Amino acid sequence: MALKSEDRNAVLVLHGPNLGKLGTREPDIYGSATLDDINRHLEEMALLSDWQVVALQSNHEGDLIDAIENAPEQYQAIIINPAGLTHTSICLRDAIQSVPIPTIEVHLSQIAAREEFRHTSLISSVCRGTITGFGMHSYIMALWYIITTFSSANQKP
Ligand code: DQA
Repeated sequence: MALKSEDRNAVLVLHGPNLGKLGTREPDIYGSATLDDINRHLEEMALLSDWQVVALQSNHEGDLIDAIENAPEQYQAIIINPAGLTHTSICLRDAIQSVPIPTIEVHLSQIAAREEFRHTSLISSVCRGTITGFGMHSYIMALWYIITTFSSANQKP
């Protein structure tokens, strides 16, 4: 029998453009952890609670939109760092708004303390919440929220 998505304990983690370069990309702003380090940490943390993390990085807006549109079939929630698309992409915003599962927006850097063009997120208002400025811990806090809120065991009467 096919599992219902709410029984799967699976979360989709999306990383937007240029985040594949973490570790060498402006480490004073984004830290020294690579994307693999972040994904591994999330996967290990999830496993402890019997959750599965599936991570995808893309430099292409359409790939991220496809993944969001298909996510409800397999995942209970999405964590997304939309990177530069945060500040520009109505299409990404519309995709997030169109799906019935919750999305958490995360950023490594504190975007409100950076250049003015980073102060506006087109994504935040269609997300369950936004965690920004804690480096890798922004993802960890988002995952912790999802695990503690949406675990299938928690949802049983
Ligand atoms: C970022 C912040 C964005 O403004 C920037 O374009 C990124 C990374 C962050 O994680 O701090 O690529 O999303």
